[in-house]
Amino acid sequence: MAFEEGKFQEVLSEFSATSEMLREVAANFRQDLQMGLRDPASSSMRMLKSYVGLPSGKEKGEFLALDFGGTNVRVLRIRLEGEGRYEVLKRVGEPLIIPGKYDYIGKGSTAVQMFDFLAKLIDEAIDGDHDTKFYLGHTFSFPSDQDDLNNARLIIWTKEFATEGVEGKVVNDLLTAALERRGIKNVVPVAVINDTVAVLLSAAYKNPDIYIGSIYATGHNTCYLESSIHDPKGFGVGGMILNLECGGFMKLTPNRFDVELDKNSEKPGEQRLEKMVSGRYMGELLSMAIAELLDEKDKKYDLTSVDMSMIITDDTPELKKATEILAEKVGRKLELKDVKRIKELTTAIAVRSARLVASSYVGIIWQRAGEGKIQPQHVAVDGSVYEKMPLVKENIARALSELLGEDAAGVDTVLDNGGSGLGAAIAAAMAVQ
Ligand code: GLC
Repeated sequence: MAFEEGKFQEVLSEFSATSEMLREVAANFRQDLQMGLRDPASSSMRMLKSYVGLPSGKEKGEFLALDFGGTNVRVLRIRLEGEGRYEVLKRVGEPLIIPGKYDYIGKGSTAVQMFDFLAKLIDEAIDGDHDTKFYLGHTFSFPSDQDDLNNARLIIWTKEFATEGVEGKVVNDLLTAALERRGIKNVVPVAVINDTVAVLLSAAYKNPDIYIGSIYATGHNTCYLESSIHDPKGFGVGGMILNLECGGFMKLTPNRFDVELDKNSEKPGEQRLEKMVSGRYMGELLSMAIAELLDEKDKKYDLTSVDMSMIITDDTPELKKATEILAEKVGRKLELKDVKRIKELTTAIAVRSARLVASSYVGIIWQRAGEGKIQPQHVAVDGSVYEKMPLVKENIARALSELLGEDAAGVDTVLDNGGSGLGAAIAAAMAVQ
């Protein structure tokens, strides 16, 4: 069955993001930031204080970094050498879920199981050494309330995590208890930061002109250096980094697929921007759109953002790879004409995502510039979607220039690969030096 052309065009148009729409998103984003600075409750973003500013670049010493926030957990032992230099001395990592074997993030899993698993990985990273003192920086990539650098209370799980007994708790208390259960007394957690903050610290440790850090992966979120906030309990220079939790930004126009996806998600009403742009959800949007075109409305095809990347990069005349992926996921071989249309739809979803993300960056850049000139700067980004999804980088650049005009010449995005671990080590160094 070939799709009906009118129907296809209508579905495709749902995912368009015109310049005007982007301008509106960027302006609303800026306005939400301004409202949040006056009163966080009035913004759709949580705008959480991190109690760190930028590093001086001189941070030195050996630290442990626990990077927790996606499906993989990593623990690293890192030696910071100052002047942007560092060495990873040891790296261990394991997924939080292996289907059929274990699952620490799904419904029914518990805080004790999850944190015991983290303590086990930490033990591996220190090679079972229970004597030498190690300071640990913890990247915890979920919205958390902090009143200093070391205590972060999980407000709410995002990214479909559902482990019981963590929401409302101070994560370092859970970690410390797990370390104790394992007989580890020499690992001292000293800093908890969001992954966006980690990316910003890591990028700013190595390069000048960086004030915005972002994750564009399973989840999506951004932080920036707010120069008007100074706190006696904060570390670092230049003000305070605010973790926006902008995955929760809501002043958007969701299409009917976005609305439906949100309704069926683990936390309806939350994380509306994230559900339109991040890797965890884009494949689901594509699935829903295809199901509608195939008149199989309630079917789930389990398409992922990795499938999307492969569909977009298939440039063969017969779209062999794309046809194969779709046959496997949809359960039947589609005609070439329809595979071509699905490729177009897939592209539209990825491009919309990149353009919305770019608009949010512009909202922050405008806010930081105030009435003054836009400073030349790099926006540091880490994450699989930014790194690997085709068309994303160039569409961010295009949207930046649509919105910033000639100022776009001084602004770009740069990949800060693996910044989460390094950032946690830098935060630990900032806390103890
Ligand atoms: C989700 C989390 C946020 C994190 C982002 C990227 O949006 O709420 O804290 O930074 O995912 O991992």
